[in-house]
Order: sequence, then C-alpha cells, then structure tokens
Amino acid sequence: MSMSQQDSSTVREGFPRPFPNTPTNVLEQFRLNGKVVVITGAADGIGYAVAEAMAEASANIAMWYNSNDVAIEKARGLAEAHGIKATAYKVDVSDPEMVQKAIETVAKDFGKIDVFIANAGMAISKPILETTLEEYRKQMSVNVDGVLYCAKYVGEVFHRQGFGNLIITSSMSGHIVNVPVDQPVYNATKAFVTHLGKSLAREWREFARVNVVSPGFFETRMGASPEAINEAYRMAALGRQGHVKEIKGLYLYLASEASTYMTGSDVLIDGGYVLP
Ligand SMILES: NC(=O)c1ccc[n+]([C@@H]2O[C@H](COP(=O)([O-])OP(=O)(O)OC[C@H]3O[C@@H](n4cnc5c(N)ncnc54)[C@H](OP(=O)(O)O)[C@@H]3O)[C@@H](O)[C@H]2O)c1
Repeated sequence: MSMSQQDSSTVREGFPRPFPNTPTNVLEQFRLNGKVVVITGAADGIGYAVAEAMAEASANIAMWYNSNDVAIEKARGLAEAHGIKATAYKVDVSDPEMVQKAIETVAKDFGKIDVFIANAGMAISKPILETTLEEYRKQMSVNVDGVLYCAKYVGEVFHRQGFGNLIITSSMSGHIVNVPVDQPVYNATKAFVTHLGKSLAREWREFARVNVVSPGFFETRMGASPEAINEAYRMAALGRQGHVKEIKGLYLYLASEASTYMTGSDVLIDGGYVLP
C-alpha cells in the first residue's frame, strides 16, 4: 500500500501483468477438459453435486470420502457417463499425514492437481454451555484443521507446479450468527476458513488463486435441522433451502477459466438469507 501519491507513482517492474491466454468464448472458458480436480466430502451432498459438475465439464476428478464408500461406485458412474477419469480416495481430513500422503498420491496418479475443493465439514450444533471440549475439538479438527492441512499440502503442489486453484466451502454461518440454533463453534470454524482463504489468496498470488463459497441452507444432511427448518424458510428471501444442483454452476465458475480475475473472494449463495 502506498503512503503518498509520490510513493504510488513509482513504476514497478513487470507491471501490469499480462492478461491470461484464455478463450474469449464464455462457454469455452467453462470447459475443464484435461484439468484435474480434487473434491473432499465428495460422496454426497454439496461435494457430490460439485464432483458431478466437474465431470460434466470434462475434468478428471479425485473424489475424497471419509466414511461413505458409496463414493467408489459414484466415481465409477461419473467416469463411465462422462468419459473421464474418476477415482475415489478414503481420506480423513483431520489426519495431517493421511492428507499429505493422499495429495501426493493424487498428484502422482493424475500427473498434477489443477483445482482442490476443500469441502468436507461437520457440525455439532449446540450452545457452547452444552458443548463438551471433545465436541469442540472434533469440529475444529475437521472444519479448521482439515481445511488447513489440505491447503498447506496442496499449496506445496501448486507452488511446485507454478499453478493451482483452491476453493474452500465455508458457510453463511461464517458471516452471521445463525438462528435459531446456537452453534458458536461451527460458526467460528467457518469464519476461520473464510479468512484463511482470503489470506492465502494474497500469500499465493504468484502461483494460485483461492476463493471461498459461503452457502446458506442447502437440502443435505447438513442442511436445516428440524429445529431450524421453519426459520430457514422464513429467513431466506427465496423462501426455501437450496437444491444442490443450484450450487454446481458457482463451483464450476470458480474452478474454470471464466473466473481468472477472481481471487480472495467469498461468494454467498444463500437465497437471500443474510439480507435482513
Ligand atoms: N448443507 C448446508 O446447508 C450447508 C450450509 C453451509 C455450509 N455447508 C458446508 O458444506 C460442506 C458440505 O456439507 P453438505 O451439506 O454437503 O453435508 P454432507 O453431505 O454431510 O457432507 C459433509 C461431508 O464432509 C465429509 N467429512 C466429514 N468429516 C470428515 C473427515 N473427518 N474427513 C473427511 N471428510 C469428512 C463427509 O464425508 P463422509 O460422508 O464420507 O464421512 C461428507 O461427505 C460442509 O463443509 C458444510 O459445512 C453446508
């Protein structure tokens, strides 16, 4: 940041940087032929919808799962349907060694990693006075540590390659104190990863882009609970939860060459929930 107009008039060598050599046709910008995309939490919910989006755009995909091994069959299905390579990997993102090893394995199996989507997450939605320290640590280990481990180790690959693209699934609960269920730990884990993403966008400016997606309520296992559902319909300007097919385009946009001027952004997709 310049402190004066005199400072700001200093010409910096190498600037402005050149525009990227990307197609001008917008539909071509969205194609992912030959790209390699890793998605965590890919067996179901938002993660599977995103895996489908990437496969439909012709990317090769590594689908990470933790406990839900339906990911193996789903990877086979996407590979057959779209003529791409799709492989499932069992990785607990809260285990740093497993994450590091899996990232190196994917880079070896696929030859590179173009895009990494850190989507896995979990919630124990309780007030802090009812949350045990074990429950606190569990949420931190997946939502915070898990994203950080993925970012750190895929960042090493991106740095080595000289290119990369990290997309983090955060939440509108990183922006607002969601109601009516008090869930301070979950909210705070998402605020952490949102700011981590923005900070990495700057740190990695020479070789990779980083963006954050902040969904509102989507109808998945982690969508609005019975205690929250009526408030979810009332608060969302669109009067409902999102269907996962409605989030595919955003991840595809961020993963693709349509978004080459976007880094450090945090995109809310919440049916207007946080407007009031
Ligand atoms: N649905 C919503 O309303 C909403 C709103 C805002 C943000 N989000 C965020 O969106 C992301 C996806 O959630 P979802 O709604 O699609 O729910 P979901 O279907 O329950 O997905 C959560 C995923 O996280 C994975 N996961 C949990 N613990 C893990 C661990 N230790 N290691 C690796 N993977 C682990 C699960 O894998 P396995 O099933 O294989 O164990 C599961 O695939 C989460 O980060 C969530 O916080 C969701």
